[in-house]
Amino acid sequence: MTEVTLMTDEKTAAAPVKPHLPDAAKVTSVTHWTDRLFSFRVERPRTLRFRSGEFVMIGLLGDTGKPLLRAYSIASPAWDEELEFYSIKVPDGPLTSRLQHIKVGDEIILRPKPVGTLVHDALLPGKRLWFLATGTGIAPFASLMREPDTYEKYDQIIMMHTCREVAELEYGRQLVDSLKDDPLIGEMVGDKLLYYPTTTREPFARMGRVTDNLSSGKVFADLGLPPMDRATDRAMVCGSLAFNVDVKAILEGFGLREGANSDPQEYVVEKAFVGDGI
Ligand SMILES: Cc1cc2nc3c(=O)[nH]c(=O)nc-3n(C[C@H](O)[C@H](O)[C@H](O)COP(=O)(O)OP(=O)(O)OC[C@H]3O[C@@H](n4cnc5c(N)ncnc54)[C@H](O)[C@@H]3O)c2cc1C
Ligand SMILES: NC(=O)c1ccc[n+]([C@@H]2O[C@H](COP(=O)([O-])OP(=O)(O)OC[C@H]3O[C@@H](n4cnc5c(N)ncnc54)[C@H](OP(=O)(O)O)[C@@H]3O)[C@@H](O)[C@H]2O)c1
Repeated sequence: MTEVTLMTDEKTAAAPVKPHLPDAAKVTSVTHWTDRLFSFRVERPRTLRFRSGEFVMIGLLGDTGKPLLRAYSIASPAWDEELEFYSIKVPDGPLTSRLQHIKVGDEIILRPKPVGTLVHDALLPGKRLWFLATGTGIAPFASLMREPDTYEKYDQIIMMHTCREVAELEYGRQLVDSLKDDPLIGEMVGDKLLYYPTTTREPFARMGRVTDNLSSGKVFADLGLPPMDRATDRAMVCGSLAFNVDVKAILEGFGLREGANSDPQEYVVEKAFVGDGI
């Protein structure tokens, strides 16, 4: 833990006066989860339409006065009146070294062009839907786990999320925990959502990489499910490039084929970030 205040809701902070940004969206809350992870919500532009699971470009004005933008998955569902984002804090990152200091009332830039492959339209109908994520790769699934279509289209949804340490799972854990009491989708979720969080570098109830738990069959045994099958199982994948490559090989081994918006198949993949890691 570092000197940052952890798990603080800053809903009451005073709004500073800032120059008006192009495509501005006002910050309504900020939560710091660890010294390298935070989430925040912004007012949703009235004209912004998106499909749960998509990403947009967001950012701040750089020192030169030009917008400094990065891709971000929208972590809130398409029906939400606000937009939520879940973010890494890269110590020397051009954007996040500054974005991590935003406060309620500040404005960010939000380019209104949502895109992405982690959408229901890119998958053929199935019975079980697997969300496979590491780190901030859970963000698009934070949206899709709150999307009614997810529960209308599938009998079972399995959220596998793996991080190095226990504290890095907390955003996802609280979100999943809140779903059953959600007035809008609580009933739809029922017992359809199976949550399978694991760590790899700190002791936890369940441990191991997503890839290892799929290859060994441990996750199927633990959850009482049959192995993946092209006829019934669909998957969405979001993690580092190395993670995505390794998971793809496993899914292909089960007979699933990669789909896209223009060619729906049995699984889809998106990068959680570009690069090898911080
Ligand atoms: C399609 C897409 C969706 C994305 N969605 C999100 C999101 O929802 N939340 C989010 O935090 N980031 C997300 N990213 C990454 C994001 O675009 C930025 O890279 C991140 O905000 C850091 O920006 P930066 O300018 O501070 O550093 P950058 O110069 O962009 O990154 C510096 C280095 O930090 C590492 N890094 C960057 N982002 C991450 C990350 N999320 N996790 C671990 N290491 C990372 C990489 O090694 C990268 O080379 C997404 C990227 C893509 C391509
Ligand atoms: N998380 C931290 O506490 C921390 C702290 C400071 C700096 N960093 C730096 O931040 C960068 C990103 O870290 P991160 O933890 O967000 O992401 P990450 O390195 O991608 O690891 C996230 C999770 O994914 C697993 N994983 C990594 N590659 C995989 C693969 N090919 N197949 C299956 N699972 C895989 C990791 O397991 P393994 O543990 O087995 O690799 C870990 O549980 C790294 O470069 C790291 O050095 C991280």
